Amino acid sequence: MAHQQESVEFAPAKRMDKIRYAIRDILFEAKRVEDQGIALTKLNIGDPAAVGGFKAPAHIIEAVRKAWADHKYAYSPAAGILEAREAVAADYAKHGVKVDPDHVIVTAGLSEAIRFLLTATINPGEQVLLPRPTYPLYVTMLNELGGEASHYDLDESQDWALDQASIEQAAGPNARMLVMISPNNPTGRVFSKDDLQKVIDFCRKRRLLLVMDEVYNRLAYDIEGPVMSVTDLDFEGVPLITMNGLSKNWLLPGSRVGWMVFHNTHLQKGVLDAIIRLANARLSGPTPHQYAVKAALEGPQDHLIQLRKDLELRAQAVADGIAKVPFASVVKPAAAFYAMPRLDLSHPSLGGRYSSDTQVVVEWLRRTGVVTVPGSGFGQTLGTHHFRVVTLAPPEVLREAMASLAVLAS
Ligand SMILES: Cc1ncc(COP(=O)(O)O)c(C=O)c1O
Repeated sequence: MAHQQESVEFAPAKRMDKIRYAIRDILFEAKRVEDQGIALTKLNIGDPAAVGGFKAPAHIIEAVRKAWADHKYAYSPAAGILEAREAVAADYAKHGVKVDPDHVIVTAGLSEAIRFLLTATINPGEQVLLPRPTYPLYVTMLNELGGEASHYDLDESQDWALDQASIEQAAGPNARMLVMISPNNPTGRVFSKDDLQKVIDFCRKRRLLLVMDEVYNRLAYDIEGPVMSVTDLDFEGVPLITMNGLSKNWLLPGSRVGWMVFHNTHLQKGVLDAIIRLANARLSGPTPHQYAVKAALEGPQDHLIQLRKDLELRAQAVADGIAKVPFASVVKPAAAFYAMPRLDLSHPSLGGRYSSDTQVVVEWLRRTGVVTVPGSGFGQTLGTHHFRVVTLAPPEVLREAMASLAVLAS
């Protein structure tokens, strides 16, 4: 017999109201545009395996293939296989930094490391200092946890260098952690020794946990090897966690392997213990893929030579395309695969038609199929407007896509 009851949709939890991720949210609009028969040029997700034809080095793939073939697909220890943790520790030793493999946790991508980190340290109402603009996952997860993001500034007029004074202004009495992303997503900035030192000194003075997200640290166009880190400076007295993974430097985003490294562990024993408990509760990271870590860190790094060249060409192509748009400008990135062009909404060629970067990005998408992410998804200085573009597509595609923004000018 058919049920007479009125059908009622089952609702998600209240906390989901605050969960947004601009980088993927734009795809809802993109789908509508595609359904109308307009081909998309997707420049919104930083996935080098999906865009631009970049391939991970064969020796890393072989390490993973062998792990599957050797039936190494049991749960791993929650903190990760010893071989991977030892390889991470050995990589730090190469750069003169002593790390205990027991102070390395292998995670399912840095995304899981960020979740562990914030879950284990931030109570509701407590503050995390993040750059502005920032990679948005930190903010999304803080929203989920009831923590508060407070932003220090990157100064666009100084090629997105750290605005040192803004750190003091951002830190309220409840500040507990400062996150630095170097090289930075979305600006492509590599931070200077002076900026790194400032951050160390500030965290020491205010007793903050310092977190370095270094997922792009081999991708500075004119630097061979990793960019300078706080671990190259004197960080005594500062609880420090550094994070990296296979997604970007080694072109394996779908492997979902990242790691977090605890330094000055005597200053954060409870945090390490809490994160191990979180790792235990989810049983294991992806085991066979963890066999890529030693291969990635200890094998040939030749792929980086061509990759850096390719990325620099693409950054230049974005700058060339933007130069053709009367109401846009861009700081050319120095690393990674993003740029954050600025929009001048008061430019006469726009005739006052737009009051937000979201409106520009959506209208541009509807007219041309070019998919970028509004700057508001990353945080930006009040009164400024931007969009973020992923610089992985071939240079000619990027040049043309950026120049196509001029269709909005009259
Ligand atoms: C700055 C930064 N951190 C962390 C991540 C997450 O990387 P994954 O989870 O693939 O390791 C990304 C991904 O784009 C990123 O840009």
